[in-house]
Amino acid sequence: EVTRLWGGRFAGGPSDALARLSLSTHFDWRLARHDIAGSRAHARVLRSAGLLTAEELEAMLAGLDRLEADVASGDFTPVLEDEDVHTALERGFIERVGPELGGRLRAGRSRNDQIATLVRMYLREEARGIAGELLDLVSALADQAEANAAVAMPGRTHLQHAQPVLLAHHLLAHAWPLLRDVERLRDWDRRAAVSPYGSGALAGSSLGLDPGAVAADLGFPASAENSIDGTAARDVVAEFGFAAAMAGVDLSRISEEIILWATKEFSFVTLDDAYSTGSSIMPQKKNPDIAELARGKSGRLIGDLAGLLTTLKGLPLAYNRDLQEDKEPVFDAVDTLHLLLPAFTGMVATLRFNGERMAELAPQGFSLATDIAEWLVRQRVPFREAHEIAGACVRACEERGIDLPDLSDADFAAISEHLTPQVREVLTVEGSMASRSAKGGTAPARVGEQLARVRALVAEH
Ligand code: ARG
Repeated sequence: EVTRLWGGRFAGGPSDALARLSLSTHFDWRLARHDIAGSRAHARVLRSAGLLTAEELEAMLAGLDRLEADVASGDFTPVLEDEDVHTALERGFIERVGPELGGRLRAGRSRNDQIATLVRMYLREEARGIAGELLDLVSALADQAEANAAVAMPGRTHLQHAQPVLLAHHLLAHAWPLLRDVERLRDWDRRAAVSPYGSGALAGSSLGLDPGAVAADLGFPASAENSIDGTAARDVVAEFGFAAAMAGVDLSRISEEIILWATKEFSFVTLDDAYSTGSSIMPQKKNPDIAELARGKSGRLIGDLAGLLTTLKGLPLAYNRDLQEDKEPVFDAVDTLHLLLPAFTGMVATLRFNGERMAELAPQGFSLATDIAEWLVRQRVPFREAHEIAGACVRACEERGIDLPDLSDADFAAISEHLTPQVREVLTVEGSMASRSAKGGTAPARVGEQLARVRALVAEH
């Protein structure tokens, strides 16, 4: 028997082509648990409004319990005629409690306010899981920072050697954006925590049902202020899509570095066998596939967001069926991050850094030139002149194929009278890093404090 939620005014059923186009159970079935929770809350407000007897409510809740168990066990699944998750579950409900009682549950609600609520319930739950997975990655970065606390590396701008930094400082520079991703999801939750249930199709409920009670029942601190907005708005879904895409882009930026660092030319890291792949033809290969997949999937996450925003653009109020297209992109974003993050964290946790190689390269490429200029400033030389003098040192080295610490006292004196032998105190990687001791700098003491703050934030969340 067909249990479509509409049909009274239609002479016949929909064409097969329409039924296939309209179908959403192959993706919205994942909302079944939330739909049943919504039905329970709805049954309770129907009772509070005097539209159900106490016995009817009890029978309904028992029926919903049985339905939920059958959904969980896989005994109840949607069929082709079910159109969507709401229709399928209503069929299952009616099969369990009979048409008389089963037919009373639909009063005062619409699939429009239902779906808008369910997608929020689902995303709020998933956001907590994703935040936890992001924090695991932050912890892995913090562990690596701690394990390699003394390792120096060439800090880069424009991918060129710039100034020496601690590897720990660099790794933590990747941790902070991830912490902001977590914060962004938490902050997003404040806006997502508003229940559209009770908005009806668009104009609100006429049956004396209390939207606030349904909201509280479903874990929302508030219900929608405007029933049109409640059913038509999807900015909360798009904002989730942004948070997911941003996290993906943050992973992609880490990925690019790991891919570079793992090359023969850099030789900064070795990937663990369990987190790298081989080649079908080249026996020697060990490839950074996790990092590459993360870099690739960030494009997919951006696509999910772009598709979603494009769907919303130009939609008139209130509900339009276009809005059904909001789900697959965010479901894909959720699945993508759940798949990616554990592998990514495993890869980061098992990276082995070649500290010797990094330290050897840290002072190369004249990365201590700024230290000479700033040392001169401390000797009261105007910075523009100091910059010229340090530049002359670099030129002298380049001409002779040597590096800054190789210049003799006489060489320094010939370049400028200000360059006394004391300048050597900043011509080591350690001296350079130790001098950057203001808050946020790469001095070991500051980086130690930074690591403690990252750990504290992880523990707080
Ligand atoms: N499946 C729809 C969606 O995902 C919800 C049902 C609303 N359908 C309707 N014909 N008003 O948005």
